[in-house]
Amino acid sequence: QGLSECPFRGTRIGGALGTAPQNEDWWPQRLPVDLLHQEQPVANPLRDENYKEAFSKIDYEQLKKDIKELLVSSKDWWPADYGNYGPQMIRMAWHSAGTYRIADGRGGASQAMQRFAPIGSWWDNGNIDKSRRLIWPIKKKYGAALSWADLIVLTGNCALEIMGFPTFGFGGGRRDAWEPDRGTYWGPEFWDGKYIDEIPKTTDHKGHPGEMVNNNLRWVGGPKDEYHDLENPLAATHSNLIYVNPEGPGGNMDPIDSARNIRESFKRMAMNDEETVALIAGGHAFGKSHGAVPADKIGAAPEAAPMHQQGFGWHNPVGSGNAEFTSTNGIEGSWTPNPTQWDNDYLTNLFKFEWKQTKSPAGAGQWTPVDPDAPKTPDAHLDKHEDLMMMTSDIALKMDPEYRKVCEKFMNDFDYFTEAFSKAWYKLTHRDMGPKDRYLGPEVPEEDMIWQDPVPVRDYELIDAVDIAALKKVILDSGLSVSALVNAAWSAASVYRHSDKRGGANGARIALDPQNNWDLNRPAELNQVLNTLKGIQSDFASKLPGNKQVSLADLVVLGGCAAVEKAAKDAGFDVEVPFTPGRTDATPEQTDVESFDWLKPVSDGFKNYHNDKVGYKIPAERIFLDRAHLLNLSAPEWTVLTGGLRVLEQNFDHSKHGVFTERPGQLTNDFFQVLTSMDYEWKPQNYEETLFNINDRATGSTKYTATRCDLVFGSNAQLRNLAEVYAADDAQERFVNDFIKAWDKVMMLDRYDVKDE
Ligand code: HEM
Repeated sequence: QGLSECPFRGTRIGGALGTAPQNEDWWPQRLPVDLLHQEQPVANPLRDENYKEAFSKIDYEQLKKDIKELLVSSKDWWPADYGNYGPQMIRMAWHSAGTYRIADGRGGASQAMQRFAPIGSWWDNGNIDKSRRLIWPIKKKYGAALSWADLIVLTGNCALEIMGFPTFGFGGGRRDAWEPDRGTYWGPEFWDGKYIDEIPKTTDHKGHPGEMVNNNLRWVGGPKDEYHDLENPLAATHSNLIYVNPEGPGGNMDPIDSARNIRESFKRMAMNDEETVALIAGGHAFGKSHGAVPADKIGAAPEAAPMHQQGFGWHNPVGSGNAEFTSTNGIEGSWTPNPTQWDNDYLTNLFKFEWKQTKSPAGAGQWTPVDPDAPKTPDAHLDKHEDLMMMTSDIALKMDPEYRKVCEKFMNDFDYFTEAFSKAWYKLTHRDMGPKDRYLGPEVPEEDMIWQDPVPVRDYELIDAVDIAALKKVILDSGLSVSALVNAAWSAASVYRHSDKRGGANGARIALDPQNNWDLNRPAELNQVLNTLKGIQSDFASKLPGNKQVSLADLVVLGGCAAVEKAAKDAGFDVEVPFTPGRTDATPEQTDVESFDWLKPVSDGFKNYHNDKVGYKIPAERIFLDRAHLLNLSAPEWTVLTGGLRVLEQNFDHSKHGVFTERPGQLTNDFFQVLTSMDYEWKPQNYEETLFNINDRATGSTKYTATRCDLVFGSNAQLRNLAEVYAADDAQERFVNDFIKAWDKVMMLDRYDVKDE
């Protein structure tokens, strides 16, 4: 008798761990604080391995030889087009890196997220499951010493090299994720089918219907006319795709429209026009598109595929289901007569011939030369030749006046094109790795790239403990307030984001355009602090013998540390805040102003910045959670930092929201005491519920005011429990110590020069 029929235990099993509905189904508006606790070490079977060491022990030449041999060893279960897996591996690497978006730094190649849903099951990643499985023997051979993330990018490089393309370099150092990412926002749409009608309308935090646009939810201003209004932080213009629809927006086959999509999309990925053309024209010099079979015949994506397919998706029941029957995107054909050789034929043919619309065997819209005498391309598997093919997104490069200029330049100067593509490919595949200190292996280029946000190498002696103590005293004696010093250090360090590991205090870019002018950094006060610190810096250098110096970047952080120590001392705790010198100061020439401007938070709960503005589709505390995640904070760290920063008066506009204390400037747990006290009641100030009064229950008088980013620590169950820990009578010292630990973590987030990660 089966368990399901057991008379004593019920007649059927209705659910198991995680079966819906769960909290997120019952209360979708709940703040998912648990998202901060993804990627726990317990989930990582290699947590005790030192990747840096393991990678450096690899015989790198042999590794590349192994990959290159594999690329030309066709396997019967997935025969290589033209006997060469190179092109499909370039696409695998491009799609791995191509999810990157500059607005929040998420996506990108660095964790090999295409191994998991949703990315691995996006329609656009069709048959990339095969590409990864083909390189499994390499992964198996090198094991823990070679992450999937590094292997995927390196295989892309090897593929380019075997087809005659000189790559610019390779840096290893990517650490794999071990579980799907549950938090990244990939756009408002549900999958195809549910795309339009069944989708719930977006709502604000009170359940009011939000904006919903026509047939493409991510275009805030309308799908066609206001391309600048692609919803942030997205970079892909359509759901399920890496970037743009090859058949034009919504499949409209309009090259000019397609160009506008491409420009917006690639801009969101930090690529300018020249880099964009280099990447597309470079990439499509290789390989082919696959459209032998209509999409409705193709099976489910890996995440929904039956168990016996063992991780493969997109089962193709026609013919052998591979080789000449392969259907991936649905468009069919190759761009060039030599799809496994680096040459300039893509651009030459694009411009030499007129192209007319046609349909692939799968029914997708594509373009073919009008001239019947145009060169043909060999069939990838059969002994015959085919017409050349262009996608609408390729024709776009010819039709858009700005892209056209770049194409013409590339067409007339193949060496220039080659260099442009090699640099753009290097940027594409390394953009999300952060400081160059993180790059591993013998192929890391000497040259610093502006997109790496370089900082100078230190060529002077570091300050020691005696100097640090002396400097702290000078800073505190200079008359700068605790609040101002903390603001400078926190503003410098907290711009870091763990997604692409950009930003942070190193480089002292807090003193450069654009950061020193951001309104949320309290610019007037900040510049006063910076000027005083600069004075201390030169005074210090002139007094010391030898070659000892201190950077402005170090002084900014040290000033913050000294201020926190003073604030703790004033609250009765004599503690030392850790400080690790070694930061250097970047120049304006090393700083890409436009690219840095993307690091500016649109809303920042740590500073109560913009929390009272209405109009965002999502409430302020949700963006605050996003900020905490970008800072790689745990929920307790997030909580203790917020409570501490409030009493140290860090609001961007010096407002008193959340400053629940009678003794500001002292590092007390007053924020939590007030938040959890039943002596008060909480009343919204406005209809939108963005501001609140904290009223004395006895007298009814307003004692304090607060924002959503303050009160969320009392309303959300998970955060409230943490707030209670820090409000308890035994918590004063714990609060100070935990605040300092979390503070030091934030100050050190970008210090890959001394961290072993
Ligand atoms: C293939 C679209 C940019 C490299 C393809 C395919 C499509 C496509 C639809 C055919 C997939 C299949 O059916 O097998 C686009 C669009 C782009 C773009 C719309 C942007 C506007 C790039 C970039 C690169 C690249 C930037 C690399 C630098 C490749 C390669 C292939 C390919 C190598 C051939 C794959 C194979 O032979 O299996 N692309 N692509 N593409 N793409 Fe792109």
